This record gives sequence, C-alpha cells and structure tokens, in this order.
Amino acid sequence: MKKSKTSFFCQHCGYMSPKWLGKCPSCNGWNCFAEELVAQTDSGSRAEMQFDGRPMPVSDIPAEEGERTLTGIAEIDRVLGGGIVNGSAILIGGEPGIGKSTLMLQMMKNLAVTGRKVLYVSGEESAHQIKLRSNRIGAAAADLLVLVEVSLEKILEQIKKINPAIVVIDSIQTVYSGDLMSAPGSVGQVREASSRLILSAKKNGIPMFLVGHVTKDGSIAGPKVLEHMVDTVLYFEGDSGHAYRIIRSIKNRFGPTNEIGVFEMRDKGLTEVPNPSAFFLAERPQNAPGSVVVASLEGTRPILVEIQALPAVDLGVVAAMASSFLDRPVDARTVILGEVGLTGEVRAVSQMELRVKEASRLGFNRCIVPRTNMASLPQTAKMEICAISSLKELLENLF
Ligand code: TYD
Ligand code: MG
Repeated sequence: MKKSKTSFFCQHCGYMSPKWLGKCPSCNGWNCFAEELVAQTDSGSRAEMQFDGRPMPVSDIPAEEGERTLTGIAEIDRVLGGGIVNGSAILIGGEPGIGKSTLMLQMMKNLAVTGRKVLYVSGEESAHQIKLRSNRIGAAAADLLVLVEVSLEKILEQIKKINPAIVVIDSIQTVYSGDLMSAPGSVGQVREASSRLILSAKKNGIPMFLVGHVTKDGSIAGPKVLEHMVDTVLYFEGDSGHAYRIIRSIKNRFGPTNEIGVFEMRDKGLTEVPNPSAFFLAERPQNAPGSVVVASLEGTRPILVEIQALPAVDLGVVAAMASSFLDRPVDARTVILGEVGLTGEVRAVSQMELRVKEASRLGFNRCIVPRTNMASLPQTAKMEICAISSLKELLENLF
C-alpha cells in the first residue's frame, strides 16, 4: 500500500516546503505555493527504471561519448555541438506559439526520411491537427510515428515497445502520471514525468527532446524546474512581430553554450538562416550618423551587427575608448552617464536620479553627469557629482 504524503511546491521554481509559504525563499515569488500529493517512490513503477547499480572501473568506461545523430537541420546540429548525443535529454523551452512544435516535427521528418523510426508524442494537439501541420511542412514519412497521449505510464510503455531512434515529448507540461494526485502541469507532475522519461531515455540510449512552455507570468510549472535534470537546455526565442527566431543553448553537457541558430518562420515551416549578418543589417539606414557595423563572435560564428549610438551610454563608451587609447585606467568607483552629440557636446539623459541612486547603492562614489542634468539631482554626501558639458571636460575629469 502506498502511503500518501503532501508537500508544498513553488509553482515557479519547484522549491519544496513541508508547509505553505507566502513567499518563496528560492525565487522570491509571492503566493506561488500549491499543495501536491507526493507518491511514495520505493514501490511501484519507478523501481523498474533503475540502472543495474553495479560500480565499474573508470578505465572500463568507453571514453568516447558515442555516435552523434545529425538532425539534418544544420542550425540545430551546431547549437547542440555537432548533432544529438545518444541517450541525452534535451529541453527545448519557449513561449507558446514561438514554433517549438513546428521545429520538432521538421526535425523528426528529417530523421524519419533517413530510415530511422522516430516517435513524436503530443499531448497538446489532436492527430488531425498534427496532420495539418505536417502537410504544411511536408512531413509525410512512414517512419515518423505520432502518438497522441498524456499518460506517462502509457508513453513509457510505447517507448519500450517501439524502441524508436529518438523521442519528442510535446509538451512535458501535458504529461500526467497516475501515481501523483496533483494536476498536469504542476511542478510535482512535471518533475516526476521528466525524471522517469529521462531515465528511460538514458537506460535505452534513446535521445529525447522535452518541449516546455515558458510563460511570462509563470502560471505553468516552468522548464526552470527541469534545467538541472536534463543534459542540454535550448531556448527558442523571437519577437512575435518578426518572423526571425533564434535558438540558443543555455546549458550543454556535450557542447558549447554560446552557439545560436537562426531561423525564419515561413508559411511552409521554419527555414534556416545560414547568413544572419544579412538580416541583422537588412534594415540599416544608409548615410545615417550614429550607426556603425562591427563583427562579433557568437560561438564559432562571426556575426556582423549594427551598433547605434542611443541614449545614456555613449559618454561611457567614449570614456572607455579614451582610457584605452591613452592607456590610463578610469577610477573603479566612477560611473559615467550622458549622451554625446556630434560636436562633442555632452547632453542630458532621462531618469538621472534613478541611475545615480543605483550607482550609489552598488558602492560607486563618483558620477560624471551632463551639466544639464544637475538641476534634477539632489546632492548627497555619499556621491560626488562632477558636471561636464563637453568631451574636453570629461577627459580633464577622468585623467
Ligand atoms: P508552433 O510550432 O505551434 O508553436 P509552439 O509549439 O511553440 O507553441 O507554431 C505556431 C506558430 O507558427 C503559429 O502562429 C503559426 C506559425 N506557423 C507558420 O507561420 N508557418 C508554418 O508553416 C507553421 C507550421 C506554423
Ligand atoms: Mg506546440
């Protein structure tokens, strides 16, 4: 007989407490604790998932990480560090509607056409909806198996039966274990479902993608709870007003964490953007003062981006350049605020008091500010304020 036991979980970050709390000590969120029934884990279905539990000499463990599977989407392969590592668990997070399901289905299609049996588990959409989407992106491979299911136990059973080359769970928030009484999407369910799915992936060497929704208000148990459980965390981001999407790795046990992949959402799904510089520069105004192009490195890839001089930081940029050019350091407890005009005049910035207050709070004791901002600044003993109106005065004050 299972004994039932309850705990309180922060629905934002997964912090567990034996009693209800108004404020989460971990993420500082308010009113985010919900009571969940916790299953006793020493009996029941989890036990069968365990590894065989025998230690082995480290010298006997194969050194190589095993073969990687290429997804056929170069942008994803690069972000993963050269394809998917067998048995790895990859979380792909992003806001609803950003294109996670589309990306997963496209990836599964690519793998299926190479003759691999792949399993796409959806708890969000009906088989008919998935069919419509797959028609749109041209995914009609016989080896792409679709399972519409939310029961964790049934999903695990199918994985065991089918033994696919790769599994996608879309989304982890819909998976529900009968062992727990709490609602689908709650932290307890998400954690339980993930740990058992990941264990089955590791045990069978099957790579697994877990799709996780992130919402701004944190009303669904966020993928944050899962980040430490998986090998790789990818975030799929973009601006709803634009068709461009960026996938980046936040954590990767098998690769770099600073790579990005760029996509464009079109009417037939996501297309790769192999040359992101072109789109970063696409809207660049010609002959406009205050705009320059630099080449930055994102992971292994150089990307050309436009830099525009916008409020409040340019005086600091000028000071940094002057400091480097003169080879003389700027005092470590000085903060520089202001905008620079084309003739070297220093102009006011908004919300000066707020900026100075923050600098003071962080232990800075001198601020260089535009003279025109002086009127709005209360004098405090803790902070020395130097007012300037030109770059010449800036240099005199700094060096
Ligand atoms: P979806 O993959 O369902 O997002 P998520 O799984 O992250 O919630 O993508 C939904 C959006 O993408 C939706 O607004 C429609 C759009 N879309 C296209 O523009 N073109 C396409 O070919 C497809 C399949 C979707
Ligand atoms: Mg989706």
